[in-house]
Amino acid sequence: MRRLLLLGVTALCLCVFVAADTQHDRQGDKSLPEKDGVLQLKKGNFNRALRKHKQLLVHFYTPLSGDGHRVSAAFEGAAAELQESEVKLAVVDVAKEKDLAKDLNATGPPTIRLYLAGDKHNPVPCPVPQSSASILTWLKRRAGSAADLITELSQIEASEELTVVGFFKEQDHEYVQVFYSAAIELPDLRFAVTQNSEVISKYGLTHDVVLLLKKSKLIQAYKMMPQTSKEELIVFITVYQMDPVTEYTGKTVSQILTSPVLNHALLFVNKSSADFEEIYSAFNSAAEAFRLKILFVWVNVDEPRNGRMMEYFRVRDFEAPLIRLVNLTDHVTYHLPSDTLDVETIKKFCQSYLEGKAKPKMQSEPIPEGWDKKPVKELVGMTLEKVAFNPDKTVFVLFYLPYSQESRALFSLWEELAKALQEREDVVVARIDASANDINMSMQGTYPSLCLFPALYAERVVVYKGKRKLKDLIKFLDKEMEKAKKDRVKEDEDRRKYIEAVKAEEAKKGNKTKDEL
Ligand SMILES: *[C@@H]1O[C@H](CO)[C@@H](O)[C@H](O)[C@H]1NC(C)=O
Ligand SMILES: *[C@@H]1O[C@H](CO)[C@@H](O)[C@H](O)[C@H]1NC(C)=O
Ligand SMILES: *[C@@H]1O[C@H](CO)[C@@H](O)[C@H](O)[C@H]1NC(C)=O
Ligand SMILES: *[C@@H]1O[C@H](CO)[C@@H](O)[C@H](O)[C@H]1NC(C)=O
Ligand SMILES: *[C@@H]1O[C@H](CO)[C@@H](O)[C@H](O)[C@H]1NC(C)=O
Repeated sequence: MRRLLLLGVTALCLCVFVAADTQHDRQGDKSLPEKDGVLQLKKGNFNRALRKHKQLLVHFYTPLSGDGHRVSAAFEGAAAELQESEVKLAVVDVAKEKDLAKDLNATGPPTIRLYLAGDKHNPVPCPVPQSSASILTWLKRRAGSAADLITELSQIEASEELTVVGFFKEQDHEYVQVFYSAAIELPDLRFAVTQNSEVISKYGLTHDVVLLLKKSKLIQAYKMMPQTSKEELIVFITVYQMDPVTEYTGKTVSQILTSPVLNHALLFVNKSSADFEEIYSAFNSAAEAFRLKILFVWVNVDEPRNGRMMEYFRVRDFEAPLIRLVNLTDHVTYHLPSDTLDVETIKKFCQSYLEGKAKPKMQSEPIPEGWDKKPVKELVGMTLEKVAFNPDKTVFVLFYLPYSQESRALFSLWEELAKALQEREDVVVARIDASANDINMSMQGTYPSLCLFPALYAERVVVYKGKRKLKDLIKFLDKEMEKAKKDRVKEDEDRRKYIEAVKAEEAKKGNKTKDEL
């Protein structure tokens, strides 16, 4: 009897438990708001969602962020496809849920994370998706489905798309595992495995290689080694999937910025210019030798949409063609110091950069000792504006490139000019190395450039376009000084009026306070 009673109690307990659980569950459902099958999570319900779903794919999004738009669209597309799957999808608005994002260490990328078995500390980062298909493929490959791996060589070769083909002797070798794990991380690429030994004869290869094939053209092959890691294989694939040189456009920018190669060579060039083909071809030829070390990118300066990119690197369209190297680890930029952009020059520059011998481009060189002692004053980025924009002095500046023949040819003329004007207290003759210093003012024309800064309060620059003769330079200077003198009289008048107006205003205020007192 007692035993029966005990059993009854246990049964009752069980019932209560079950009831409590379902109730909890129902409550859970209510407090986990959904939209189109996607959970809308907050600080208050995130943990509950995590407990409830063994696979929770969460998109941490920031509304209205630039690149985030494509990722959001990809996630929404995937959500529609995954309505009936075991993976539950959820979103967190990072702009609203700042505390939650911070607790989860989700304030930065990756923006899509897969939480498994309720573990909130070790989510699996989803690679930045190009489309919803990326997310679906990633989930499929992660789950161990090799369904999208084509094995027919003829099928692979017929494809227009680039395919990463693993050719392995034994299908259960460790190499195959490394290959699969790379496939998971690169869901935007087609992967295939084959044991078809036609590969050997056709492409002249041995076993255990990974090849990049496009329309049966072998782009590159990678021989697997016992020490080959997933990371190495990914670097190889992501580098060779791109052409040796990539044009910087809205379409390629994310591929460029997510490349594992952290040294970028940037060619700024006008696509419509007569020498474009020649320079591009030299750049392209140089690229091959640096494939895994430096990413080669070219920027069309004739494309208005590239304005921001050029601003970032402080390149003006008239300075093109030019080449910069940037180290994306420390964001230091290097400028190729040459007039000629042929294969040899570009290669030498890249090599010297990799060896740590290139000189970084600076905002300003240090101020040289005795810079104002010689007839021609030596300006640098830091002193240029201070010296040039002087309301009491007329300043004539030569902007030069030290490696340019045309620039150097002007040095002696500038010395002559400085000596001829030495006695004139109100004139300064100066020069600045435009390749070593960032020039912050807007000017037109190429270097070398001869610019006159008249003695005015207004920041005026007049570019000299006349004959490069002493006589003509002085004539130009005198004419501009005469013009500036008149403007200066007006400026002084305006300033006097302005100062008086300010004084009157102050006096009025003073009287008012007195009256009030
Ligand atoms: C976030 O990072 C901190 C410090 O690394 C760690 O203590 C904490 O557990 C992390 N939070 C999660 C949810 O993993
Ligand atoms: C590019 O070159 C073309 C042809 O020489 C020229 O018309 C155009 O103004 C140039 N663009 C820039 C931004 O210099
Ligand atoms: C790039 O910068 C990092 C960090 O300062 C440095 O370790 C690395 O050597 C640099 N790379 C080159 C090629 O200069
Ligand atoms: C150029 O201008 C930028 C921003 O206006 C400033 O940060 C930088 O210091 C300036 N460079 C020089 C050399 O004056
Ligand atoms: C301020 O007061 C003084 C005398 O108290 C007067 O001479 C002057 O005109 C007043 N100024 C103005 C702007 O009202």
